[in-house]
Amino acid sequence: MTGKNLVIMTRTSNIYFLNKAKEVSKKMGIQLTVIEPSEVDLPLEKFMEKYPGRLPDPKKTIFWNRVAGTSYNDYDQLVAKNWQILGAELLNSLNVHHHYRDKFHQYLHLKSLNLPLINTYYLPNMNLEMVNSNGPFVAKTLRGAKGKGVVKLEDKAALKDFLTLTSSMGDTRFIIQPFIEYQYEHRLLVLKGKVIGHFIKENSNEHWKHNLSNAQWKKAEKANERMLDIVEEINTLEQKFFYAIDFISKNDELTVLEVNMCPGIEGPDAILEHSILENVLSVI
Ligand SMILES: Nc1ncnc2c1ncn2[C@@H]1O[C@H](COP(=O)(O)OP(=O)(O)O)[C@@H](O)[C@H]1O
Ligand SMILES: [Mg+2]
Repeated sequence: MTGKNLVIMTRTSNIYFLNKAKEVSKKMGIQLTVIEPSEVDLPLEKFMEKYPGRLPDPKKTIFWNRVAGTSYNDYDQLVAKNWQILGAELLNSLNVHHHYRDKFHQYLHLKSLNLPLINTYYLPNMNLEMVNSNGPFVAKTLRGAKGKGVVKLEDKAALKDFLTLTSSMGDTRFIIQPFIEYQYEHRLLVLKGKVIGHFIKENSNEHWKHNLSNAQWKKAEKANERMLDIVEEINTLEQKFFYAIDFISKNDELTVLEVNMCPGIEGPDAILEHSILENVLSVI
């Protein structure tokens, strides 16, 4: 893409990502604008009329919503929708963000496929009899937080205590899953349906939780057919631009952990020793 504008919308000032985005756009002749949703008032056409030159022409704009994790907000969707109405091309449709940004919503969405998912519960009424396991469990926030929002609960008594505590605070924004023992954690990066990276981390006993900033991740040796089948299945649901699928595995058993519409790039870049954003922006 040359002579076109790329607008990246984000709420987190991830310096690595933004610097790479600037560097790669410049190299490719892409006019990059980074916005925070809170910087624009709606309707966008009025905002643009009042502040000419601040934002590029939507008709010549490709719009990438990179708001995810703890910081998403319905206002982001309104901003994205307004760009789309004015003629911008969204790299992910509004529905894609809607379906994947919330962990329980994502679970219901993926359940329409025959995937090896972790049984997931949303229990605002504390009906823990619904859970077919005696523990351990994990509770995790509906919004991903690079592992920070995930806690381990050893047994049903601990689960009950946790549900009592959270209900007394009037907060039900979390899901419950059985704790799965696993050997490996995998991340596949998928760009317009094709796998462009496969990373693996062996479970160590230092901590049960992993994330991609951890240095022990490495490039996986060979593609796993079963994983590729699962990628195909997830691709059939809708078109997605650039995303990650996380798996855990034990022996030959593979389980989908989560699908992430805004994967980080710093870890993968360091492992692959090249800029993933070059691949990503070359197909917009
Ligand atoms: N059901 C589970 N059983 C065992 N470990 C889990 C489970 N769910 C999450 N974890 C661990 O916690 C980490 C973070 O969980 P994840 O669902 O990916 O949340 P986030 O969106 O914050 O990345 C995972 O990478 C994994 O190591
Ligand atoms: Mg994760």
